[in-house]
Amino acid sequence: MFKHLLKGVVLMSAVATTSLQAATRDVIIDTDPGADDVVALLLAMASPEDLNIRAITTVAGNVRLDKTSRNARLAREWAGREDIPVYAGAGRPLVRKPIYADDIHGREGLEGVKVHEPKQGLAQGNAVQYLVDTLSHAEPHSITLAMLGPQTNLALALIQKPEIAKSIKEVVVMGGAHFNGGNITPVAEFNLYADPHAAQVVLASGVKLTYVPLDLTHKVITSEARFKQLAAINNQASQRVVDILDAYVKHDMDLYGMPGGPVHDASVIAYLIKPELFSGRRAHLEVDSREGPTFGQTVVDWYAVLKRPANVLWLNEGDAQGFFDLLSERLARLQ
Ligand code: BDR
Ligand code: CA
Repeated sequence: MFKHLLKGVVLMSAVATTSLQAATRDVIIDTDPGADDVVALLLAMASPEDLNIRAITTVAGNVRLDKTSRNARLAREWAGREDIPVYAGAGRPLVRKPIYADDIHGREGLEGVKVHEPKQGLAQGNAVQYLVDTLSHAEPHSITLAMLGPQTNLALALIQKPEIAKSIKEVVVMGGAHFNGGNITPVAEFNLYADPHAAQVVLASGVKLTYVPLDLTHKVITSEARFKQLAAINNQASQRVVDILDAYVKHDMDLYGMPGGPVHDASVIAYLIKPELFSGRRAHLEVDSREGPTFGQTVVDWYAVLKRPANVLWLNEGDAQGFFDLLSERLARLQ
């Protein structure tokens, strides 16, 4: 029985870990900042030895596209990484009516800090076209996509040119919920609910997919000690992260009665930098887009009862202190 349960559980071997860490990954970060998106972006931009960020692409999600695009540029300015282009993408989901999460992230998509118009603007061109062009010219399996919001941009790119899938090394998605229950409906997580049709397109493309769902992010939460740890870094970046998280985590702490709050999107970046902090299982996933109470639900066949081939790695465990140690170490490098 025990053996059966362990079947399929992914334990990162020392060898796999070393080879992953040795190479710098080429990554495109697709995002809808968003409080936790900004923390994720700072963590990524402070980690050049692990992540070669080719571009940041923005999508409407937590707030409207103009605001997510401004906030992505703000994060870039705060990290001193104006070398990274920011492309704006889809302003609305593929099919469903747009929804936003400004009740949680605030009217500007970022609370706890002052927002301003950053000095450097957007890159010329649309994010979807950028994805199509870049992936069309890339080596096979060479580019990782970190998806921190609704998956609309990547879905549109795959619809426009399905062959680009072969240039993708891995797509790591923050989204979904199986064991945890949802955060926007009883069963759906926000990013999947905001554009389930896009998630279906990405799933059907056959790319290597890793999901970072609420099952995991609700185990990697803040605490008073972790806030103190971040504050002790005592630079502008850490102060901003403390202020942003202080405003952000209250909502989930109240809703779920948890002693701390998740920093969802930052776990995607931490997984790309230190996969050994996380574990999960390969499983078959289906995304529900039927109107009704299960709209946006991620149905994970955790025990392989349907005997269908696994199509995702579903992460459900994370080393919370390891995550905050990594975040602290990397933020200390910024101004
Ligand atoms: C996800 O939804 C957004 O509100 C957050 O930025 C995160 O990507 C969590 O459900
Ligand atoms: Ca997000």
